[in-house]
Amino acid sequence: LLRPPVPRPLAGKRVLITAGPTHEPIDPVRYIANRSSGKQGFAIAAAAQAAGAEVILVSGPVDLDDPAGVTVRHVESARHMLEQVEAALPVDIAIFAAAVADWRVASEGAQKLKKTSAGMPPLQLVENPDILATISKMKDKRPPLVIGFAAETEHLIDNAKAKLKRKGCDWIVANDVSPATGVMGGDRNTVHLLSKNSEKDGDIAVDSWPVMTKEQVATELVTHIAKSLADKPL
Ligand code: CTP
Ligand code: CA
Repeated sequence: LLRPPVPRPLAGKRVLITAGPTHEPIDPVRYIANRSSGKQGFAIAAAAQAAGAEVILVSGPVDLDDPAGVTVRHVESARHMLEQVEAALPVDIAIFAAAVADWRVASEGAQKLKKTSAGMPPLQLVENPDILATISKMKDKRPPLVIGFAAETEHLIDNAKAKLKRKGCDWIVANDVSPATGVMGGDRNTVHLLSKNSEKDGDIAVDSWPVMTKEQVATELVTHIAKSLADKPL
């Protein structure tokens, strides 16, 4: 029995994806984290793999099974995530879906912090490396197509446009992560795709997609990538 061939538009392409939150240690038993589930990034990894790509998924701590056929690097902190991302280069396409913690504690306690009569620990924060911006601005190993996410709770489109410029990436997938949307941890996502190349008269076009499951968003994103490669090979 002959079946029609499965289309594999990303065959021969190496795709790197970051996903999930990061955990930033405070002491051996505590950490700073966020509500990211990793579902959107994992769905993109599965969709890219199904489209024939060789996929490397660098994931923070999540409660998800590794997608079949995908190389998964499990990390904890933003700094570990950056190390594994750099180790995965070169790639053709990089998609940064992780909700990387923006800050970490300046000096991680070697022992568990104890309550004392002296009051609360001051917890000085320092900024984490920006993984997306670091990779976007690489001189030698910058992937030909770099896609970031913009997680916002207000001024979604304006913030996403500013992020597209500031980060130096090619596309931004903007999503509203306000608690009422249920996106953080949930199964659905409403996204808007912004591309650097759509800039005309100083403004960037916004492609707003209807509410979809995170799997559908992933498939749609992979379809857009495949179309963009067909129009303009990397
Ligand atoms: N990102 C990253 N490394 C960081 C912070 C963010 O790689 N240290 C990536 C995210 O994976 C995402 C994009 O940058 O693709 C935007 O993340 P977001 O948190 O929306 O933007 P920030 O630049 O951190 O700005 P803010 O949180 O203040 O809105
Ligand atoms: Ca952030």
